Amino acid sequence: MTTHQPFWLAGRPATSHACLDVTSPWDGRLVGRVAVPTESQVEEAVAAAHAVRGPLAATPAHVRAAALDHVCRRLAERTEEIARLISAENGKPIKWARGEVGRAVSVFRLAAEEARRFNGGETQRLDTDAGGVGRLALTRRFPKGAVLGIAPFNFPLNLCVHKVAPAIAVGAPIILKPAPATPLSALVLGELLAETELPAGAFSVLPVPNDRMPALVKDERLPVISFTGSDTVGYAIQASVPTKHCTLELGGNAAAVVLGDWSSAADLDWAASRIATFANYQGGQSCIAVQRVIADTSVYDRLVARVVAAVEAQGTGDPLDDETDVGPLVSEDAAKRVESWVNEAVNAGAQLLTGGERDAATYAPTVLEGLPTGVTLACEEVFGPVLTLHKVNGTDEAFATVNDSKFGLQAGVFTHDVHTAFRAHRELEVGGVIVGDVPSYRADQMPYGGVKQSGVGREGVRFAMDDYTYERVMVLTGIAL
Ligand code: SIN
Repeated sequence: MTTHQPFWLAGRPATSHACLDVTSPWDGRLVGRVAVPTESQVEEAVAAAHAVRGPLAATPAHVRAAALDHVCRRLAERTEEIARLISAENGKPIKWARGEVGRAVSVFRLAAEEARRFNGGETQRLDTDAGGVGRLALTRRFPKGAVLGIAPFNFPLNLCVHKVAPAIAVGAPIILKPAPATPLSALVLGELLAETELPAGAFSVLPVPNDRMPALVKDERLPVISFTGSDTVGYAIQASVPTKHCTLELGGNAAAVVLGDWSSAADLDWAASRIATFANYQGGQSCIAVQRVIADTSVYDRLVARVVAAVEAQGTGDPLDDETDVGPLVSEDAAKRVESWVNEAVNAGAQLLTGGERDAATYAPTVLEGLPTGVTLACEEVFGPVLTLHKVNGTDEAFATVNDSKFGLQAGVFTHDVHTAFRAHRELEVGGVIVGDVPSYRADQMPYGGVKQSGVGREGVRFAMDDYTYERVMVLTGIAL
């Protein structure tokens, strides 16, 4: 199959002579062939986005909401086809790909709802001091300007949607740059946006190669950058454009903490099943996949036996098979990197409890304990189906271990004690604490983002809308209050 797909330039399909081949990480077959925009086409898209920023910001809420509702409906209608596309280009098991489309539907629905009520405004009385008598301040939020959205490969649809839908909701033009490995779902998104009444220039979907991105990142006509990807690239972007607004959703090595009060057989079965599933979903290629299990010594042995059994029950195989839990990683190179990190840890003294094998781009779900400090796996985000187990003594040590990381995205805490839950919320240095479940839980309306080297800013529909806008105050004079 060799579809030669156009990209979306200021709302219309466009093509060029240069092509990008998209192959399946599972069997290497050609899944799609995508036109790559030329320099002048990129310039045209940026100029159109810049030109439409005023008119788009002035578009009535019902027009923006109707466009968002339309995409929501059309994504739902085309769920199966789009899920198969995600699975083909990314290697994600079909059941997770269907879940991703379902989430994208929700994001557009949420964005349509928020577009109808978003204002962000407040009024303030100014007669609190004599000089302010007769004056009233009225604050509203306005778009900062056109957004450059740079999306990763791991959620080829939904992490694009998290950039596009809030932009449309606030009336900001967006140029979306999908990951080179997975542009096809983003191009379908462009197709659905093109069915709406949004003005020309409101959106472009440009599969620009990474080596041409620095110029686009620096373009002054795109004052907002929303990037999801590695910390190295994210901070390089931020350093190259110090005067721009950057939202960076970067890595994590998320921890699931199992405390001593989470001790019944049912408790431990639930924790083990959730940990095994969410260490391995999408081959562990999620920033909030469980990487570290931090368990109290009183439950450790009983938990470990269950975790290992649950991990071994994860079925690897063809991502298009409904029964497959864990497909390939995005590429054989990615699987080789994971393999080398595990080998380094084992050679340094870690014990391999299960897994540790690679077959082309597929890496077996793997569990390690006794991880020596200083090895790569102990410090970096593995972005693969690998779990490390850590035995601790009590809540103090558990929380200190969570915080002993350069990352801080989300943490899960298995406890029944509401006081411990509030303590976790106070003390864990992360963007989100999930009580009674794994760190991988995400509802798309929640604020999502990290602290420390996990990034800056927040996604989650309304929070991204805040990020894309700023408060502008108007003072009315001569008002009798
Ligand atoms: C991510 O990998 O950061 C996104 C996780 C999600 O949306 O579930």
